[in-house]
Amino acid sequence: MVKYTNMEGEKEDIKALEIKAKKEISAAGDLKELDQIFRAYLGKKGHITRVLRSLASMGEAERKIRGKAANDARDALQAAFEAKKQQQTLQIEEAEKKDHVDVTAPGTKLPKGHLHPLTHIQRKCQEIFNGMGFAVAEGPEIETEWYNFDALNIPKDHPARDLWDTFWLKPKAADYLLRTHTSPVQARYMEKNNPPLRIIAPGRIFRYEATDASHEINFYQLEGLMIGKDVSVANFKAIIEEFYSQFFKKETTVRLRPSYFPFTEPSFEIDMRQGKGNWLEMMGAGMVHPNVLKNVGYIPREWKGFAFGMGLDRLAMMKYKIDDIRLLYSGDLKFLQQF
Ligand code: DAH
Repeated sequence: MVKYTNMEGEKEDIKALEIKAKKEISAAGDLKELDQIFRAYLGKKGHITRVLRSLASMGEAERKIRGKAANDARDALQAAFEAKKQQQTLQIEEAEKKDHVDVTAPGTKLPKGHLHPLTHIQRKCQEIFNGMGFAVAEGPEIETEWYNFDALNIPKDHPARDLWDTFWLKPKAADYLLRTHTSPVQARYMEKNNPPLRIIAPGRIFRYEATDASHEINFYQLEGLMIGKDVSVANFKAIIEEFYSQFFKKETTVRLRPSYFPFTEPSFEIDMRQGKGNWLEMMGAGMVHPNVLKNVGYIPREWKGFAFGMGLDRLAMMKYKIDDIRLLYSGDLKFLQQF
């Protein structure tokens, strides 16, 4: 056994040092740790370095034996350090390659949804009416009997109430229902705001009826209301013609046909001209009934105005040439992805 005397005067086995160092080298987790191990053995005050320094004070025979052992150990450890260092560097490079982001590579496209055709139509309508000074108002889908009927001059037990097939919510005594039209928003808005005013109220409505290509149990309406000192039918016609012209992107003519709604007097059906002499029924409208104004606390002699209610589904079906309203509520992606 080749021994050397360390600072503390103990004899140490050079071979044992070498084995211990090799174990530590192979266990080193990273370059920093490897460097620390290197310094502990081969640094200025390292174990092996000290052995090498102590050679000078030895006799020749001893120096030869210990010198060779120490030099061998140093060479072996240096090689082991190099090998380990290279392995670790390679590992780091590998890891870096894996994390590497090529900023010039084209991005991965995430599948993107889109708006429902009815939402497109609603937004388009809002945009056009906003342009003509109409604010957007909202009301609840669960409505009370008062706002859906009574406030709109549709008294209980009056046959006019049968015009709207109603979903009543239980218990019936609570008088809650799913609104059958957007007209209740008129009453709600006028109660809270003073005239003059111009609003539209788009939203979902519900009807208890059999479904077919042109009927759904729920659909969308857009209500309009303009109240002022001298708002006339002529104003209404001008505004609605402007609306359709912008919506269909062509000059549009409408005609007013006498009709009946409990909340307007006079009431009209609005037809839109289709090419040669054909008229298409588009919506209901009229001059707001004095009883409605009274019900919301306005003085009918001071204020008047028009109201209208149109079906948004109808507009969507015309614009996109959809022949069955049920498609709009089917959730069928093959249909929806066309828009
Ligand atoms: N609320 C009516 C309906 O659902 C539509 C309507 C007609 C609204 C005339 C109005 C109006 O504001 O003046 O059938």
